[in-house]
Amino acid sequence: MPIEMSDQDELSEVVSRQIDYYKAKAGQYDRLGPSGDQQDPRDGQKVQDSRASQSDLRLAESLEIEIEQVEQAFAGVELGNDVLEFACGTGNWTARILERAHKVTCVEASIEMATIALAKMGPDAQRVRLVVTDLFEFEPDQVYDSVVFGFWISHVPVERLNRFCKLVSECLKVGGTLFFVDDKQAIGANQDSLSSKENRTSRLETRIVDSGETFQVVKNFWSPQDLVDVFDAHNIQVKVSETDQFFLFGSGVRLA
Ligand SMILES: C[S@@+](CC[C@H](N)C(=O)[O-])C[C@H]1O[C@@H](n2cnc3c(N)ncnc32)[C@H](O)[C@@H]1O
Repeated sequence: MPIEMSDQDELSEVVSRQIDYYKAKAGQYDRLGPSGDQQDPRDGQKVQDSRASQSDLRLAESLEIEIEQVEQAFAGVELGNDVLEFACGTGNWTARILERAHKVTCVEASIEMATIALAKMGPDAQRVRLVVTDLFEFEPDQVYDSVVFGFWISHVPVERLNRFCKLVSECLKVGGTLFFVDDKQAIGANQDSLSSKENRTSRLETRIVDSGETFQVVKNFWSPQDLVDVFDAHNIQVKVSETDQFFLFGSGVRLA
């Protein structure tokens, strides 16, 4: 349900509660789906063992195909050697970045998520500089060849989207590149038009962790045009695409 969050204190509380959610969820995250928030339909063996329906299998096949589309788009982005990753979580994109870049700076608010990421990297962790902070407080001390974030921009409150895109621009050298991926809006999921300036509200979703504790997180389904426009305002030309069912992804370049 869309909820008005005009009050700054309330907004900070929402951001901080969202961080708490990922702290509590860290150990569960990699058991879940591409954005860590769904049952993993990629696990074909598990699906068959539980005698899943044909539609589950079709869903798993579609997901495989769409993940491949996203991977191909990512592979087409020139990352350079010095990459900044926002909200790295348990390192699913960090590992891919390190296959192609010399070093990556990860800005992540949950030390619990980041610890799992570093453990996964093995010796490659030496090429990771971890900054544990709320990224809305992050002040870059350099510019980077590229900026990457996976399944993060849907968690940015409406009121912070412009500020976040400005930060991305400030972190990129001129000619530097951007890549991001996120969930696309599921058919039937309710979201007010974010393009409408008078009607800017964030969607909040309730999430539950293994302990039974419940949290609310921001989950905004941006339209491709919303993102093209807001990055354009900060000199980043971005192309945003959607796969058939699951993902929205963008690649871009900082122009000036
Ligand atoms: C959906 S997960 C995505 C993780 C990873 N990028 C991936 O694709 O698997 C969102 C991540 O954002 C982090 N996060 C949430 N709020 C944050 C904030 N304000 N500053 C920095 N990181 C934040 C969470 O801790 C979590 O790791």
